[in-house]
Amino acid sequence: MTHPFWLGQPKTSEIRRKVEGYGSWLEIDLDTVSNNLAEIHRHTKAEIMPCVKNNAYGHGLLPIAAHMEDNGVKRVLVAKTREAIQIRENTGLGALNMDPLWAPEQYESSIAKGVTQVVYTLDAAKALSAAAKKLGKDAGVFVKVDTGLRRVGVWHEEAPALIEQIVKLPRIRLEGIMSTLMQNPEQDKQQIARIKVVADELRSHGVEPGALSLASTDATLNNPAAHLDLVRPGMSLYGVYPEAKDVASGPKLRQALLWKARIEYAKTINRGDSVTYWGKFVAPEDMRIGTVHVGFYDGVPREMANKARILINGMYRSSLGSISLNHILLDLRGVDAKQGDVVEVISRTGENDLSHFAATAGWMTYSILNHLNPYTPRVYTKKGEPVALLEP
Ligand SMILES: Cc1ncc(COP(=O)(O)O)c(C=O)c1O
Repeated sequence: MTHPFWLGQPKTSEIRRKVEGYGSWLEIDLDTVSNNLAEIHRHTKAEIMPCVKNNAYGHGLLPIAAHMEDNGVKRVLVAKTREAIQIRENTGLGALNMDPLWAPEQYESSIAKGVTQVVYTLDAAKALSAAAKKLGKDAGVFVKVDTGLRRVGVWHEEAPALIEQIVKLPRIRLEGIMSTLMQNPEQDKQQIARIKVVADELRSHGVEPGALSLASTDATLNNPAAHLDLVRPGMSLYGVYPEAKDVASGPKLRQALLWKARIEYAKTINRGDSVTYWGKFVAPEDMRIGTVHVGFYDGVPREMANKARILINGMYRSSLGSISLNHILLDLRGVDAKQGDVVEVISRTGENDLSHFAATAGWMTYSILNHLNPYTPRVYTKKGEPVALLEP
């Protein structure tokens, strides 16, 4: 706990007091994030540049970034300029920004803050160089090479020529070249070969390409040939395997995130009562039900009508009826539960861990994480004790 970020945090007792006032909150166990990072380190010799884009996949950008820095990480990957600037303003980490820049002032503020920018056109590199010259500061860049995904990046056959032009621009510092894999074994092999050809060609012309980077979680876990100099895992650091088969890849990952909420209201309804919009559930008997103050605004997919599994006082119970914007209803039969009791919407293990929760909704775990509402308070724990809080 050396990072200045932690010094501004409320005391454990104060965090506990605040949690008493929350209807819904996320708990993120930082020791588990450390475990996952260490497990990935054991699995690769490459530098790890964590992907903390999209609010660290819902885990909260700055606490996760500060914690990564405490754990020896040197730079992180983001997809929004705002997040790159936040990282640079609040941590000592390098921030690699994949967001395209559009306005001259964005180029200048990014350079002023020391953000490293992904570029793949001469125009963007020239704009960066002009802004860097104006500020009298170098601009770090990674060049994105398209080795087959056909999304963004300079096509690999054209990459050496472009990069040679880019490195000649004033005040541009090439930190590396990167590409994104298609996550398809045959194509990935071809993509690895293509980025290596780009690097070899650059070296043969006296240009040092910097760090070569291809791998996100899938290749970090499953494809050592793609590790090269720099891997960019995201979901694995939060303890999520892309697919069930990946558990066998080696690293022992644990889910860091837990989603808790309170029962807002509990009551008994009568047999035949229909519940929620369109009467999506009809009570088969007199039964006790509860209303929990989370809904699809908070990140519970609407596809979970009648089937979310919620942990309440040690038992799993089903959601009832449709998922509202701010509410879900819960079957409380056989559970001793009352207003104010805490339920787990997403647990760390069991029938409603992230992967089961996602499967129940028919979503990817990745999509669930990236739809967690940033307004939901996040509580960070170490050794089981709250150490930090992110309140909207
Ligand atoms: C370019 C890039 N690298 C790495 C990642 C991390 O991916 P994952 O969460 O699968 O590890 C992402 C996320 O989508 C990405 O866009």
